Amino acid sequence: MSLFPDVVSKNASSIISPPLPDSLPEFDSPLRLGILASGSGSNMEAIAQAIQSGWLQAQIQVVIYNNPQAHVAQRAQQWDIPSMLLNHRHFASREALDEQIIQTLQAYEVDWVIMAGWMRRVTEVLIGAFPRRVLNIHPSLLPSFPGIRAVEQALQAGAKVAGCTVHYVELEVDSGPIVMQAAVPVLPGDTPETLQARIQQQEHRIYPVAIALAATVPPK
Ligand code: GRF
Repeated sequence: MSLFPDVVSKNASSIISPPLPDSLPEFDSPLRLGILASGSGSNMEAIAQAIQSGWLQAQIQVVIYNNPQAHVAQRAQQWDIPSMLLNHRHFASREALDEQIIQTLQAYEVDWVIMAGWMRRVTEVLIGAFPRRVLNIHPSLLPSFPGIRAVEQALQAGAKVAGCTVHYVELEVDSGPIVMQAAVPVLPGDTPETLQARIQQQEHRIYPVAIALAATVPPK
């Protein structure tokens, strides 16, 4: 909830998201991505579009999802991308799920793990198997508002600027070095849905760029 809507609307037009490059770095061979998703899959699709247009030199080897209802499965099918349901309810522990995720990613020869709306905590098992090669996108300007309901948290706090962050994944939720961020204004009358939609537009712009950027940095 904003206590100062007039100030916000006057300042809103000066808040910008980063301009994006016309071309992204090229690699010896396309980056081999494995996407982890739990929801609608709009970020997965934005990455697929960036690849299809030739902007991002990569291929999505497989989409892993944990929720049988996740719309990302239909999107993957439309894009002819293999998808695999690994329902967390069928695993005894987080580690056991991560082991299966690793096996699947390795079977599809994935180099980069791209969490795009993956709503499960990962363990050191997965992080250790892909050192500095697991990325996540979060709908806030981290380190503000980590965790669930980030957009609601920002509105609740009366934030004037919101946004999204692509970061390397570490054990603590929504921590890890930041690769890229984009900001959006919080406008008077925003609801979680309107603000989320504005943030998602930026997510779709920056995630492909952040993947290419991260891939230019050698893993530790
Ligand atoms: C995104 O807003 C992302 O920031 C958050 O989950 C959402 C996933 O959206 N982690 P989608 O499934 O990519 O449409």
